[in-house]
Amino acid sequence: MENSEKTFYITTPIYYPSGNMHIGHTYCTVAADTMARFKKQTGYDVYFLTGMDEHGQKIERKAAEMGVTPQKLVDDIAVATESLWKMMNIEYDDFIRTTQPRHEKIVQKIFRKFYEQGDIYKSEYEGMYCTPCEAFWTPTQLKDGNCPDCGRPVEPAREESYFFRMSKYQDWLIDYIESHPDFIQPPSRANEMLNNFLKPGLQDLCVSRTSFKWGVPVDFDENHVVYVWIDALSNYITALGYDSDDDALFRRYWPADVHLVGKEIVRFHTIYWPIMLHALGLPLPKQIFGHGWLLFGNDKMSKSKGNVVYPAPIVERYGADALRYYLMREMPFGSDGNYTNEAMLTRMNSDLANDLGNLVSRTVAMIEKYFDGVIPAPDAPTGFEDELKARCEALPALVEKYMNELQFSLALGEIWKLVGDCNRYIDLTRPWILGKSPEEQPRLKTVLYYLAECVRVIAVAIAPTMPATPGRIFRQLGVEDPAMMTWQSIQSFGHLPAGLKVQKGEALFPRIDVQKELAALSGGADEKPAEKTAQKKKDVGMNKEKAPRADKEESRHISYDDFCKVKLVTARVIACERVENSDKLLKETVELKKGDIRTVVSGIAKYYSPEDMVGKTVVLVENLAPRKMRGVVSEGMLLCASDPDGKLSLVTVEDLADGGWEIS
Ligand code: MSP
Repeated sequence: MENSEKTFYITTPIYYPSGNMHIGHTYCTVAADTMARFKKQTGYDVYFLTGMDEHGQKIERKAAEMGVTPQKLVDDIAVATESLWKMMNIEYDDFIRTTQPRHEKIVQKIFRKFYEQGDIYKSEYEGMYCTPCEAFWTPTQLKDGNCPDCGRPVEPAREESYFFRMSKYQDWLIDYIESHPDFIQPPSRANEMLNNFLKPGLQDLCVSRTSFKWGVPVDFDENHVVYVWIDALSNYITALGYDSDDDALFRRYWPADVHLVGKEIVRFHTIYWPIMLHALGLPLPKQIFGHGWLLFGNDKMSKSKGNVVYPAPIVERYGADALRYYLMREMPFGSDGNYTNEAMLTRMNSDLANDLGNLVSRTVAMIEKYFDGVIPAPDAPTGFEDELKARCEALPALVEKYMNELQFSLALGEIWKLVGDCNRYIDLTRPWILGKSPEEQPRLKTVLYYLAECVRVIAVAIAPTMPATPGRIFRQLGVEDPAMMTWQSIQSFGHLPAGLKVQKGEALFPRIDVQKELAALSGGADEKPAEKTAQKKKDVGMNKEKAPRADKEESRHISYDDFCKVKLVTARVIACERVENSDKLLKETVELKKGDIRTVVSGIAKYYSPEDMVGKTVVLVENLAPRKMRGVVSEGMLLCASDPDGKLSLVTVEDLADGGWEIS
């Protein structure tokens, strides 16, 4: 093998042909694309493979129903699938189709090799077969008489077949998995394979079929076609030209760095595939990562269950980057996550429109307003700037660590912490106040330079997940030099040259009217009529025709996500005075964590004197947008209880003198 350290080979499963791929399918491909782009960004020579798994009885039957040839059916679906990936901005290096001669020829060679070396023998199969999953099951493996994976009915199958002696490799595989803890991730999936399948004993696998024709013919026994999983798994090496006249790619990229697969096909990838490779004398992929499912109404999103959401309407309305961000941010990669339109729209509003979008537009607008659109050179930094700079410089290593663990959500979480820091920095330094006094010009220059540089760092860091957004940010910042867009350029702070001319553009992510969009999107859930009513009750996000009572109930409630957006912290009142010309307002100076001082204006002067206030530990809504009252900017709000007559009592925290504790 010539595989050097700086290559990275990543694959998705090859998809069964389906004219209507849903966002569950796009999940894995977006993850692979994000990872591939990240590895490229960090200097790797990357090869990213995806494709289609086009053989099997299911396709043969479907084509017959439609009155077309199986080849015509899969050709049409391949065109639709590639255009879906284009819409999602997926940049693969190869799209393998198992009906391509380059693949079929090598599968035949592989099958013959197994036969000639005694791994495969001919016998008779009798058992149950799940056609949708293309999987054989023994009667004891069935669940309530149905397929244990998808729950659908199985069919009895009895036919002459070739069998692979899986049992011969069982002990070797147990040993391999136990001595390579990174091989199957997350680790819980390794335990499942060891305890449920390998240790109880592997049965020999039926690897050919005679009852249908749509498959790779066994070239030494023409009644047989190769079992679809032997055919499909081989794609990871046939695409690289393994055992062909040109195997340069295979020599360069094999073994794969990671196969990303959904959790229900981990078994095929961590048992059959390693055994096939070992029998061929080839090294195993470094890792198989079994990700979770996108659920809809707590059930796996799947076309056969009729509870799917399609990507096209979402991409058309909010752009591929917004959907990609949501898919990568919302749930940890190994776990299942429930999808609702409402959660997606809420996240788009809070993270993209509010946090990121506002940061970029405020930064650019202030540079335009105060410095005629020219990014100023910074003056002397203070502690605030030192902290921001340290945050920026720590970011690449944190992102790299999480990305290498395929923890997309945590990597994005780190980037968004910096977005939050920048927004807080604006609130604390108040450039709009600095802009009023000429003597504050040097300070204003520093603040706006630091913000512009942070925005550049953020644009670079989001590029793998949101490939179309950085270009839009760079255009607004006036950054044209490709050297300013690289991973290398954010390893240390301050590479953005002063003097660039910013240019305000359209809002990156316009704010979404959630209720309106929910109504518009509710046509996107392709629910079966019988399930529709039950599902609608469960899922407010998809509910178009709400019953009046439900409507009332819903407007009374806020979502948990909305609640989580309110940041409540303890704050110690260190000074307090009356606001001039007001008999209602007190101006409190409060301290959160050491040194984090805020000014807050509260309408409690009738009930508390300034002296009463000093020394109290109160509860502050920390992330309320600043608001000016009687000429004083209030940075938050103190919580009070109000009795039936409107008398206010402060909410205080006993036994806690410190500020800055989060309340949850
Ligand atoms: N053809 C096989 C894979 C062969 S790989 C050598 C197959 N195809 S599939 O089209 O049914 O599924 C492809 C991938 O999509 C699987 O990894 C599967 O887990 C994933 N998903 C399908 N529905 C999904 C969700 N609802 N959520 C997340 N991923 C899901 O299996």
